[in-house]
Amino acid sequence: MFTFRKIIFTVCVVLSTIVLVDSNVLRNDASDGDDVDNETVDYYENLINSEMEKAMKFKRPTSAKMHEPNDTQIRDFGSFDFIVIGAGSTGSVIASRLSEILGWRILLLEAGKYPNNFTMIPGFFAVQAMTEYNWGFVSVPQKTACLGAVGKRCVVHRGKGIGGTSLLNQLIYSRGNPIDYDRWSDLLVDPTWRYENVLGYFKKSEDFHKTNQEAPLDWNYHAAGGKWYTSFHMPPNNLTKIFLKANEELGVNVTDYNGKDELGATVLQLNVKNGRRYDQATAFIQPVNSRENLIISPESYVIKIEINNQTKLTTGVLFTKNGKLYRAKANKEVILSAGAVSSPQLLMLSGIGPRAHLQSNNIPVVEDLKVGSSLRDHVFCALQFSTNVTTPHSTLKGLITDYLKGYGDLTAGNPLDAAAWYQTKLDKTPGYPDIEIIPTSFTPSDIGRKFLQWKPETYKELNGKLNKTFSLTIVLLRTRSAGTVRLPSNNPYAYPLIDCNALSDKSDRDIGTMYEGIEMIRKLTRTPTFAKIGLTLETRPLSACSAHEFQSKGFWRCYLRHLSVPAFHPVGTCPSGASPADGAVVDGNLKVFGVGNLRVVDASVIPFTMAGHPNAVCTMIAEKIADEIKFERNVFE
Ligand SMILES: Cc1cc2nc3c(=O)[nH]c(=O)nc-3n(C[C@H](O)[C@H](O)[C@H](O)COP(=O)(O)OP(=O)(O)OC[C@H]3O[C@@H](n4cnc5c(N)ncnc54)[C@H](O)[C@@H]3O)c2cc1C
Ligand SMILES: *[C@@H]1O[C@H](CO)[C@@H](O)[C@H](O)[C@H]1NC(C)=O
Ligand SMILES: *[C@@H]1O[C@H](CO)[C@@H](O)[C@H](O)[C@H]1NC(C)=O
Ligand SMILES: *[C@@H]1O[C@H](CO)[C@@H](O)[C@H](O)[C@H]1NC(C)=O
Ligand SMILES: *[C@@H]1O[C@H](CO)[C@@H](O)[C@H](O)[C@H]1NC(C)=O
Ligand SMILES: *[C@@H]1O[C@H](CO)[C@@H](O)[C@H](O)[C@H]1NC(C)=O
Ligand SMILES: *[C@@H]1O[C@H](CO)[C@@H](O)[C@H](O)[C@H]1NC(C)=O
Ligand SMILES: *[C@@H]1O[C@H](CO)[C@@H](O)[C@H](O)[C@H]1NC(C)=O
Ligand SMILES: *[C@@H]1O[C@H](CO)[C@@H](O)[C@H](O)[C@H]1NC(C)=O
Repeated sequence: MFTFRKIIFTVCVVLSTIVLVDSNVLRNDASDGDDVDNETVDYYENLINSEMEKAMKFKRPTSAKMHEPNDTQIRDFGSFDFIVIGAGSTGSVIASRLSEILGWRILLLEAGKYPNNFTMIPGFFAVQAMTEYNWGFVSVPQKTACLGAVGKRCVVHRGKGIGGTSLLNQLIYSRGNPIDYDRWSDLLVDPTWRYENVLGYFKKSEDFHKTNQEAPLDWNYHAAGGKWYTSFHMPPNNLTKIFLKANEELGVNVTDYNGKDELGATVLQLNVKNGRRYDQATAFIQPVNSRENLIISPESYVIKIEINNQTKLTTGVLFTKNGKLYRAKANKEVILSAGAVSSPQLLMLSGIGPRAHLQSNNIPVVEDLKVGSSLRDHVFCALQFSTNVTTPHSTLKGLITDYLKGYGDLTAGNPLDAAAWYQTKLDKTPGYPDIEIIPTSFTPSDIGRKFLQWKPETYKELNGKLNKTFSLTIVLLRTRSAGTVRLPSNNPYAYPLIDCNALSDKSDRDIGTMYEGIEMIRKLTRTPTFAKIGLTLETRPLSACSAHEFQSKGFWRCYLRHLSVPAFHPVGTCPSGASPADGAVVDGNLKVFGVGNLRVVDASVIPFTMAGHPNAVCTMIAEKIADEIKFERNVFE
């Protein structure tokens, strides 16, 4: 049995938190109604304990061998109007919207399984990453970041299941900056992607519940009544208030970051409903599960998109399920929504990609496009602090009881639920942040170490003497560096080669901006509010950086190269753009250049990292393209 202490040591990781909530606040919460029955609490306690134990023993898969069929006979799975590959953040939404047209038959293929009661608990996102709901990718050895990780490989967490990466994520609802969309629209030479024109799609999905009356929210930019529940964490955390106050002391406004001005400090908006994870499949697929024209096939691993090499029209897909190989035909379109790692992999396996790379892997070239050639991601790095703010303890049973009532620390990835968006002196575009800082609480733990795959010695050096700390995580938003996704061979069961290549731009702008993040943190920690809680930087001299004077600029740059990790927000591997000559793979309607009846609809089409997190962007993209498809086929109401 795990005691509470053990729980907080295991649950909490860099981006997660521990109990810092006043227990009185919990008890006084208005939603506290009827009692939760003890059997349910016991059930969850056993479930959590057993998942924790399994997670500690979890060995990440190194290939998709488990999906290999045991014979080569191709069986007929039938014909459909649309085949959607991947039931993740984007695929779930597009399949749901397309199936609104009852005359269309939609096949939704997903390699993973349905989620379970454990994956629904937001507070355990780091533990969920050590289950079969994660593909378990890691990068190839790196030179410019992730140097403190085992084998210098960055972890690349990607969800696998009905819900995709929204089964593992922290559920932060963020759209990015209007300027991001205007830049994107300029790249596409397509005004329909300007912010003023996509805002309607954000609102169409949204079902905002202002659960925290004090949190900033501008209703001009939000809507209620959509399918996707969005709310604030409850109860509000004292440290959140401290963080906002410290920002105000620096002249930083408290704003709705999804409203008029993104720059500022804020309370995070979350896709959490009654304390449960409200991933895109729960929101968009579960309510329409019984639609007869929507065929959902879990544990179905697509190995190839079939394209006629004469007409260049997409005809269907090959996939495996329960040891058998199947062909499904698409009368209208195949929609590839396998995410920023697997979508480029599948395109290349199907003959769409850089000619030389395909030829060197003996794959017949259908279309020569720069697939997988510009992998982009946010980058994050956390600094640890101690404070003298004491935290009341709760038992695991207590936390579960609160969770079942829809509040408390298990109901968010990070119950500190705050962030701030800043512009460093390196950037001049008015109103356009280049870094984000997220406060979290952090307890050194084996789960935390395993979540980011730190080398044991690095981890011990940094955190060995710490019990419980407060951390400020810097997120680099608009990155210049780019990496790649490549195939190791033409074997569809081999994992792709991911080269993150973070902080590698020749101009050194990315690491320079990260360093400005450290300067920003210095300013924050000197505010009267933070001084009052005794906030003290607990960074240790890293032996790998001993050539530099401790806390000098050289030290920090070395530290950043060792402890920065891509933020699990990969984009750009099938970039949208006006022309393949500029490296674009899909056009403004997300159709693959040169190939018929094939679109890519997921995070891989976002051409650059935005000043926001990508999950809500995925929903918007799906809403927009679902409408576009209905419009093109004249079924648009
Ligand atoms: C730990 C973590 C925290 C995060 N926190 C946030 C956050 O708070 N806010 C935010 O905005 N973003 C967050 N993100 C990022 C966000 O969740 C992703 O950007 C988003 O989910 C990507 O959606 P997608 O549709 O592109 O891909 P996915 O959701 O990954 O969907 C792809 C789906 O395709 C399936 N698939 C892949 N290959 C095949 C195949 N060959 N055959 C069949 N199926 C296949 C996969 O199993 C998966 O279900 C986080 C990510 C992680 C890992
Ligand atoms: C939170 O703040 C309230 C009011 O400011 C205070 O009474 C309470 O003790 C604080 N809780 C913690 C854990 O500091
Ligand atoms: C439920 O558990 C609580 C605390 O463990 C106990 O006080 C209560 O009597 C139990 N209720 C029932 C119905 O068993
Ligand atoms: C999930 O939990 C609920 C109680 O919250 C329970 O009724 C249900 O049986 C559980 N599901 C499974 C598969 O155990
Ligand atoms: C704060 O908000 C006010 C009012 O919208 C605005 O005029 C001011 O420029 C903002 N300050 C900063 C630092 O963004
Ligand atoms: C085109 O496809 C057919 C059928 O799959 C195959 O036999 C043929 O070799 C292909 N031609 C080229 C040039 O790849
Ligand atoms: C075929 O593969 C499935 C799943 O991969 C497995 O469960 C089954 O036992 C295999 N059957 C044979 C005859 O090998
Ligand atoms: C951690 O806990 C130990 C024992 O309780 C204590 O001696 C030590 O000072 C603590 N360290 C920090 C950084 O709080
Ligand atoms: C926390 O530390 C600060 C600075 O050392 C001190 O002024 C304050 O009184 C301390 N607060 C508590 C609750 O110990």
